[in-house]
Amino acid sequence: MGEKDQEQCEGAEKTYRHILPGEHVYEDVLFFGYTPADILDAVKDFQVRNDDVIIATYPKAGTTWLQEIAWLIMHDGDFDGAYRKPVYFRSPFLEFKDKVLNEVGLDIANPMASPRVIKSHLPVKLMPKQIQEKDCKIIVLFRNPKDLCVSYYHFYRSSSSFGKFTGTWEDFFDMFMEGHVDHGSWFDYTKSWWELRDRSNVKIVFYEDMKEDLHREVTEICKFLDKDLSGDLLTRIVEHCQFESMKRNPMTNHLDVYSINAKVSPLLRKGTVGDWKTHFTVAQNERFDKFYNDILGGLDIPFKYTLEMNS
Ligand code: PPS
Repeated sequence: MGEKDQEQCEGAEKTYRHILPGEHVYEDVLFFGYTPADILDAVKDFQVRNDDVIIATYPKAGTTWLQEIAWLIMHDGDFDGAYRKPVYFRSPFLEFKDKVLNEVGLDIANPMASPRVIKSHLPVKLMPKQIQEKDCKIIVLFRNPKDLCVSYYHFYRSSSSFGKFTGTWEDFFDMFMEGHVDHGSWFDYTKSWWELRDRSNVKIVFYEDMKEDLHREVTEICKFLDKDLSGDLLTRIVEHCQFESMKRNPMTNHLDVYSINAKVSPLLRKGTVGDWKTHFTVAQNERFDKFYNDILGGLDIPFKYTLEMNS
């Protein structure tokens, strides 16, 4: 995969343009080269099973957190198994293809024994066709977009998968607002999944609710997955999945992933609600709110931008 850097466009105003390695647009959604078109074609025909659990998230919504929780629930609290393999191999990233890491989501998922816990950042229109007809369970994890945008910015800085991002926070904010980031517009993504919220096999979970009371949310997720685990086991899963535990755990912290420079910013960076306040200017906040209200305001999605416990 060739590596291209940003280009500085001509003009009186500074306009930063970052180009992702292998960047391409597929059905109006921007992708990096680790999600090539042939993989996106194949994902559409992916054979979904009735006992699959799909973790549907936009990048940086807390995917890894939910993958670990759902994997442990579906495997009856198999902590030995969870300490044997990194979460990204136990819970395949469907549309991802990284030859260096030998991580090709479809190749891992296809032969995998049930129950599979599958991660995807795709909007509904690009998901496997069979999610519409199978009884698989889909957990959609939403995170307030301001914290998500900050988290994505730091990941762009630290991960070579996105090329050499040398832009500023202001540059990234503009890219995010325009949907000019890997996996496309957060706004389009969110609208597409929110529309499925009333389906019986779809559960929407909020990152901020997990931060507020992880035990409550894990209990609810367990019920949704029709798993009957003891209170003791649930408590152990909750402890295992606390931010500090996952940050220490080499099977979840991604410190072994060659493309992430943890010295710049680790995947498990802060894990808080409200970090956006340390990044957003007043003008950015106003621009964000106006754009959000114009595009998604009518949907009344109950995002929380602060938590009592964090303030
Ligand atoms: S990815 O690569 O897109 O799948 O990233 P993703 O896992 O979705 O998002 C990374 C952010 O999730 C936070 N995270 C957690 N927060 C709280 N508790 C736990 N256990 C946890 N695990 C991951 C992680 O810290 C990233 O958020 P930021 O705000 O950058 O810290």
